[in-house]
Amino acid sequence: MMKVSALKKSYGQGSSRVDVLKGVDLEIREGETLALVGKSGSGKSTLLSLLAGLDSPDSGTIQIGGQNITTLDERALTQFRATHMGIIFQQFHLVSTLTAYENVLLPLELLKKPDARDTALKLLSDVGLKDRAHHLPSQLSGGESQRVAIARALATRPGILFADEPSGNLDEETGEKVMDLLFQMVKETGTTMVLVTHDPDLAKKCARTIHLEHGGLL
Ligand SMILES: Nc1ncnc2c1ncn2[C@@H]1O[C@H](COP(=O)(O)OP(=O)(O)O)[C@@H](O)[C@H]1O
Ligand SMILES: [Mg+2]
Repeated sequence: MMKVSALKKSYGQGSSRVDVLKGVDLEIREGETLALVGKSGSGKSTLLSLLAGLDSPDSGTIQIGGQNITTLDERALTQFRATHMGIIFQQFHLVSTLTAYENVLLPLELLKKPDARDTALKLLSDVGLKDRAHHLPSQLSGGESQRVAIARALATRPGILFADEPSGNLDEETGEKVMDLLFQMVKETGTTMVLVTHDPDLAKKCARTIHLEHGGLL
């Protein structure tokens, strides 16, 4: 499904240069759920953003389903992301001017999916937000916002889902409920998932855990 080789990433230059990833190798199987753990500042978000094609590495390759995404131009990469990937962030990152329904509809319309409207409504219902469909993000709680983000991320049925501390902005009880929903949907759809988390209990729900330390995976 995914094969990462010798991935390197540094920030800054000269004496302020920080080598965050010093050669990461990783293979992820189809349908696998993977927890990525490590101390704050160890480079988890950096690695995730490279895997998700949101930033480019200094060197190394990232193959997803045989396609090396590091060689794609911006336009092709955007299309690849829209078709094959879903992403969930700690801060939700919903479009603030669009309703819950419109946020979920957006990725479906970008791909010109038939039945986009019905699919978006069904997904909102699946995440328990049928009666919140026409609310703006500012009118939703944190837990509700993350449910919308989950529906949006899985709307196009991506092969792989990336999640960066998705419960990090939720209280414990809400976080647990939303993560149960996430795992349930990932399981039902057979989606491959890479989940960054601080939470050992959440990591345990994944089939495999990898540790990032000193710029590499242990
Ligand atoms: N855009 C950036 N510019 C400069 N340094 C950055 C940037 N993004 C992250 N870093 C640095 O890279 C290191 C890893 O950050 P990050 O990937 O966010 O770690 P984590 O998600 O594990 O907490 C940190 O030292 C951070 O300060
Ligand atoms: Mg981070």
